[in-house]
Amino acid sequence: MNKAVDKDVIDALIDDDAENIGSNPTENRPFHDILRAEMERRDVLKGSLASAATGFFAASGISSTAQAQTSSLMNFTPVSLADAAAGDGTQPLLSPDYDMQTLIPWGDPIEPSGPAYREHANTSREQANQVGIGHDGMWFFPLAEDLVADPSVPVINDFLQRWFNVNTRGLMCINHEFGNNFQVLGKEAPESLEDVRISQHAHGVSVIQIELMDGVWQTVDSQFARRIHVNTPVEFSGPAAGHPLLQTPAGNIPLGTVNNCGNGTTPWGTYLTCEENFNAYFGATNTESTWVATPLQERFGFAEGGTFGNYQWWMWDKRFDLSDPDYTNEENRFGWMVEIDPQDANHVPVKRTAMGRFKHEGAAWTVGDDGRIAFYMGDDERFDYLYKYVSAEPYQQMLAAGVSPLDDGTLYVARFSEGGVGEWLELSLNNPTLAGLYSDMGELLVNTRLAADAVGATPMDRPEWTATTAATNGTCYVTLTNNSRREEANAANPLVPNADGHIIRFTDDTPSGTTFDWEIFLIAQDTHGTEESFSDPDGLGVDFEGRVWIETDGGQKDGLQDQLLIADPNTKEIRRLFMGVNGDEITGIAYTPNRRTAFINVQHPGNGDPTATNFPAPTDGVTVPRDCTVVLTRKDGGVVGS
Ligand code: FEO
Ligand code: CA
Ligand code: CA
Repeated sequence: MNKAVDKDVIDALIDDDAENIGSNPTENRPFHDILRAEMERRDVLKGSLASAATGFFAASGISSTAQAQTSSLMNFTPVSLADAAAGDGTQPLLSPDYDMQTLIPWGDPIEPSGPAYREHANTSREQANQVGIGHDGMWFFPLAEDLVADPSVPVINDFLQRWFNVNTRGLMCINHEFGNNFQVLGKEAPESLEDVRISQHAHGVSVIQIELMDGVWQTVDSQFARRIHVNTPVEFSGPAAGHPLLQTPAGNIPLGTVNNCGNGTTPWGTYLTCEENFNAYFGATNTESTWVATPLQERFGFAEGGTFGNYQWWMWDKRFDLSDPDYTNEENRFGWMVEIDPQDANHVPVKRTAMGRFKHEGAAWTVGDDGRIAFYMGDDERFDYLYKYVSAEPYQQMLAAGVSPLDDGTLYVARFSEGGVGEWLELSLNNPTLAGLYSDMGELLVNTRLAADAVGATPMDRPEWTATTAATNGTCYVTLTNNSRREEANAANPLVPNADGHIIRFTDDTPSGTTFDWEIFLIAQDTHGTEESFSDPDGLGVDFEGRVWIETDGGQKDGLQDQLLIADPNTKEIRRLFMGVNGDEITGIAYTPNRRTAFINVQHPGNGDPTATNFPAPTDGVTVPRDCTVVLTRKDGGVVGS
């Protein structure tokens, strides 16, 4: 095939995920830690309480760990290739062993008492109290009042009440990555500042209390419900906080988070939201024709006319005008990892600069024997890198001392070598190369991508989500979604070009160390033409029993739509659990603690076109499709994914 044509075809396919160039948390560790502690205590439980407790644990996800060692990890009937290919893509398809419901579609009020959704007619003020669009990374947090705060304190009288509540109500933190103007505004470009504000308020994060009532998950009025969007006050912490590169001549306070794609969690119960393609929202009116991109701006792809999405915020909101001298450096305030406390509606989101500035995608963690915590993070762009952040001290000691483990630590970037080995290259002034380029860590961190270039990191095929297998010394998986432009292979990115992506599995010698072993787990193109067919892996999770949840974003082969698949980590068998609709992306993974309920997202169904799909509404050809969460349960009440 003519190579140029081939590249164009592949580019067109990849452009199916137009922006796009999303996390997962693997487990709600704080809860699990408590659960484990409770399990250790159960031997001392007596009489009817003991039997009630045993019944509870038998009904929890924990018991299946033992089963998994002797049987297949998946026994559900998959959505077959034939059924999937026969569909018209207007409604999702689901394994016959599962049930689903939809939840929190874009535009619904975040509390039942809030402003009602009106198709393309809500005001920006209303949108600021409604679910955003572009549902992506998310996590389900049991309410603190439903958790046993101190596992050493016996909880007897309301034991059952507490445990069962955590599986039937909680706080959903959910990212709203993006929504094009056509979908959000019903027009191709904003025509006023009000239009821009509607768009800005549709971006960001929602914290929404959801409860299972009468067998249906619903939103409820809550002291914790809130929207965090592009105009919400935020703070900076870590080495770059207060740096001149984060100050503007206008002196405006730091506001907002945008293009929140993948997510992470922390063992101390907070939510991490990842800022990805923030460059798209900036452009330049350039009336004086003086704006040209700096090398750093160029490295992030800033352009006078913006990039994808035609957002044109800069035409109406000077903060996003790269050529406005009052707002020099405003763009440096984006591209960070942002920490949110879901249990405190007054908590100001914190941009953790020690974790680097790039197109963040995911932050899966594991703790080493030395107590230091490591977060693995992708930078999703063609030829960009895989990063790791490690806390300076054991994270629990830091928390006890009132220091965030996310503020004091070391950032590394990965170099993959032949033979399945790799090393983490330190991004600090300890490296003479970097000491020669940057005068302080703040400057280095704002310039993370350029610093990683300078130390010789391995250019990857778009690192998307990361997922770790265990809370201590876990193995990590990372999705490499695709790379149509790769012309030269390296050990970890062997396909030229890489139209459909692959997944790498790696294990640090110790999470706080600098060497690791790696292997290629799956190559998507190898599945084409089979029941296991998938392309463009993006969202990723590893559940308690080790199953790998793979979500896709891009043109699927064999007549498929984007999908959720479950893979056995040992046999590499793959089963299709859910397939989405025309034009969408499947992303975001969360669970209730007992693993009886999973949540995933259908992002940009039909790209807003009602002739493509009306999901989650019934097919009628006219209703604007809306991003939404899909709740998945097994019909037999079993562990999700099994
Ligand atoms: Fe927003 Fe890289 O996915
Ligand atoms: Ca993607
Ligand atoms: Ca993604």
